[in-house]
Amino acid sequence: MRELVFATNNTHKTEEVKQLLAGQYQVLNLKDIGCDTDIPETGNTFAENARLKTSFVETHYQMDCFADDSGLEVEALNNAPGIYSARYAGQRGDRENLELVLKNMEGITNRKARFKTVVSLVQQNQHYFFEGVINGTLREKASGAEGFGYDPIFVPDGYDITFAEMSMAQKNEISHRAQAMRKLISFLKSATL
Ligand code: IMP
Repeated sequence: MRELVFATNNTHKTEEVKQLLAGQYQVLNLKDIGCDTDIPETGNTFAENARLKTSFVETHYQMDCFADDSGLEVEALNNAPGIYSARYAGQRGDRENLELVLKNMEGITNRKARFKTVVSLVQQNQHYFFEGVINGTLREKASGAEGFGYDPIFVPDGYDITFAEMSMAQKNEISHRAQAMRKLISFLKSATL
């Protein structure tokens, strides 16, 4: 079976993709290939950061691989926090990041925001990108206990509940990451035919 590295340390994400590609690809994560480097994410876009991760594996391990990078873009904040979503309030954590977005949005009526994911794939020396976007609006107060990150303040268009008020299955039907991963998976499946 063809091996494919998912350039991530997130075992939850790895398991999900492993299941989706079972029987077609043997999916390995960074730990599985003995890589404990914290790959620097110094790009200016999600695509650049995803590509930095696949490029690292390509250069150091000569293996086919993919990586994802995601974040929240708020229109009235000039698309911040964007690539800085994980560390918008410094190294403090999800709740502090979310509180800072709420604070910076105080009194602002344009509440439009979107989550974006870009997946970079390197397969047989060819490079590909897959993107997922979900548009929505930001609440003024957090609500819901599911999910992570900015989920408690993000209401996807067409819904009146936040991502954090949805079940994981419901969020996975529409989320940015799920959309990008579905594009990747269908590309990989067609590539093995
Ligand atoms: P990652 O690139 O998927 O690790 O995402 C980077 C950061 O973007 C996370 O630490 C979160 O702050 C934010 N983010 C990405 N996806 C989501 C999501 O589905 N819900 C809430 N926050 C997210």
